[in-house]
Amino acid sequence: MPSSISPKDRLIVSLDLPALEPAEAMIERLGDSVTFYKIGYQLVYAGGLPLAQKLRAAGKKVFIDVKLHDIGNTVKSGIESLSSLGATFVTVHAYPQTMQAAVEGRGNSGLKILAVTVLTSYDQADMEAAGYRHTVADLVAIRARQAKAIGIDGLVCSPEEVAAVRAIVGDQMSLVTPGIRPAGSAAGDQKRIMTPSRAIKLGADYLVVGRPIMQAAEPKAVADAIQAEIGQALN
Ligand code: C5P
Repeated sequence: MPSSISPKDRLIVSLDLPALEPAEAMIERLGDSVTFYKIGYQLVYAGGLPLAQKLRAAGKKVFIDVKLHDIGNTVKSGIESLSSLGATFVTVHAYPQTMQAAVEGRGNSGLKILAVTVLTSYDQADMEAAGYRHTVADLVAIRARQAKAIGIDGLVCSPEEVAAVRAIVGDQMSLVTPGIRPAGSAAGDQKRIMTPSRAIKLGADYLVVGRPIMQAAEPKAVADAIQAEIGQALN
């Protein structure tokens, strides 16, 4: 686990906004407070990749959350294309073929591959509806072991699973947790949620926070408070 990461860099703000204009306005409002941004489906398909380059030019770190999953050759070449962006992280789903191809595609580029174990919006009923025989916890554990064996750089997992996943993968892989809700904020569609402080204490390296910041009246104040909470939890 990269224990030298500053509390500021441990907060990854998820720019889940419909277009470049509100995204750029949000980045402007957050100013120097936020150093790390996640660009996901909504923005990637609305000009988000040039925005990623702009963020890099402004000295920010970028996480491209495209959760790739396709035949190996397609995943590998997709990751090769993405590796020129200067992003820190990109996500793939934690299927063995997909993870193997992503590791081959990133080569020595510096782009780190995060594998998504089980989406944090899934509970046991959703697993069954999707045809999985395993419990959420079992599937997370299986995928964490496979990711480690393949040489994946980190995992996205629910804060509830961080401690168990850390025990499986050791301290060399980064653990990134969405499903973070500061005390008092709405869960939305996330079913396995936790406060920033608790997630850090359980061993998360990075926290991804979207709606609690995007939908706040004072986004910068919320981001600052989360970073302060992270700092306290680390001490
Ligand atoms: O708004 P909220 O804080 O729930 O945003 C969480 C972000 O993390 C969303 O962009 C979502 O797509 C992403 N994410 C997730 N669960 C995962 C992987 C990514 O919620 N397993």
